[in-house]
Amino acid sequence: MARMSRFYITTPIFYVNGDPHLGTAYAAINADAFARWHRLLGDEVLFLTGTDEHGLKIQQSADEHGISPQAWVDQTASRFMSAWQELAISFDDFIRTTQDRHHRTVQKFLTAIYENGYIEKGYYIGLYCVACEAYYEESELLDGNRCPIHERPVSEMSEENYFFKLSAFTEKLIELYESGKIKVAPEFRVNEVLGFLRQGLKDISITRTSISWGVQVPWDEQHVFYVWYDALINYLTAISYGDDEARFAKWWPAVHHLLGKDIIRFHAVWWPAMCLAAGIDPPSQLLVSGWLLVDGAKMSKSSENQIDPLSVVRELSADALRYYLLASTSFGSDGDVSLDRLRASYNADLANDLGNLVSRTVALIVQKLGGMTPPTPVRDERINPLIDILLEGVAAWNEFRPNAALGAAMGMVRFSNSLLEEYEPWRRPAEDAGSIWCLGTIREALRLAAALLSPAIPNASSGVLSRLGWQELGPLEWSAGGEVRELVRAQPLFPRLAKEGR
Ligand code: MSP
Repeated sequence: MARMSRFYITTPIFYVNGDPHLGTAYAAINADAFARWHRLLGDEVLFLTGTDEHGLKIQQSADEHGISPQAWVDQTASRFMSAWQELAISFDDFIRTTQDRHHRTVQKFLTAIYENGYIEKGYYIGLYCVACEAYYEESELLDGNRCPIHERPVSEMSEENYFFKLSAFTEKLIELYESGKIKVAPEFRVNEVLGFLRQGLKDISITRTSISWGVQVPWDEQHVFYVWYDALINYLTAISYGDDEARFAKWWPAVHHLLGKDIIRFHAVWWPAMCLAAGIDPPSQLLVSGWLLVDGAKMSKSSENQIDPLSVVRELSADALRYYLLASTSFGSDGDVSLDRLRASYNADLANDLGNLVSRTVALIVQKLGGMTPPTPVRDERINPLIDILLEGVAAWNEFRPNAALGAAMGMVRFSNSLLEEYEPWRRPAEDAGSIWCLGTIREALRLAAALLSPAIPNASSGVLSRLGWQELGPLEWSAGGEVRELVRAQPLFPRLAKEGR
């Protein structure tokens, strides 16, 4: 199964006006799982994440804390970096929009758009939500001129600035989505995008004179670029746009942008239009996640209903949090989460089903076979159900459906548990062929289940492998035979939580 593909995946870059929270961690964890899955397939992977450090919102947070914007972003960006490390986010590059490399790319890319005639000077009056860093039409607002996302009042802003001729791209974008040249997962989001596009697009204001915390417009020093217009370009900075043609061509346009549904307009409409205007291909795929909700409301850094991701990591483990988020939400839809359900999922799936199966299998091999691993049996009809579930899991990861992939892994675990109950190796003599078959089958099933689980629970998956004497994951298919290893009893993979729901 030799594959020589490339997989470039990005997260949205995170605003540094506050600390990482469960909602932002969710974006990073989903992208990380997809990156890990593609590494496991043997793809060459580039996984990019980072921080969005310009704009009014950041300038205001710095002012509130009485420090310079640079000192503020340095502090918060490093908190994101260390949080991502605690959450086992295996990024290859962490971009910060205040880096020189990004300023240079923004200036090159936007100069290309300017020279192609898609940027013009004009005057703007509009209703602005600082939290979104976006202008709204009056018709989009809630009663009392409130932002539909933050439910806070918007303010009137007026300024002379440069406009991007977004309207010139309406038809072209419709064609790109209708023909599937830009893919969107889950697919139902395409209709939402086509809906915006068919209403017609208006030109957008892309520079500001009222703030200085941004990337300077190279042809007019009075202006800085609007934060969203600069932020999207991070996806090109990381692959050396305008700097290293070969590297750029290696990764672009086969990119997978992961984003939350609240920022779909920027990624599905503005961003491809900006690429077309600069004369490069649009991105090839958008992966749009839903929101994490607590008691039906979107969780955010300001909400009361916070679940702090790092305190979950410290109480349980990064694996426990990652597993719960990926297994209990359907990628693309909103998912309601709670600490009680997180603990219940840890106990039921990880400690009971997976952890116990590993412990029992190791204990039986130690007891009955003197610790010597039984060979993996040749595939027959008794093993077929396991292979069917494995293939479902592989397809699910390939289709960006983590909950289905993890469901398949747990299906393999449960099937293995039922084999143990059926063959009852503890009742049979050590040399019994059925018993040796059963333990060899379960050991191989656990190796393959660990492969399906590894994008979600990388640490525990290694724990499964090492307890069962596998030195590495090995091929993603049933592999009869195998070398004999000696197993010893080990600590439980997931110590059971004494009390659930508190
Ligand atoms: N800085 C912009 C993105 C620029 S990308 C060129 C931004 N940052 S953010 O920090 O506000 O959000 C980052 C991501 O976190 C978004 O995809 C957003 O959808 C996601 N989430 C924030 N809260 C969330 C939940 N409660 N649930 C799921 N994801 C949410 O937007």
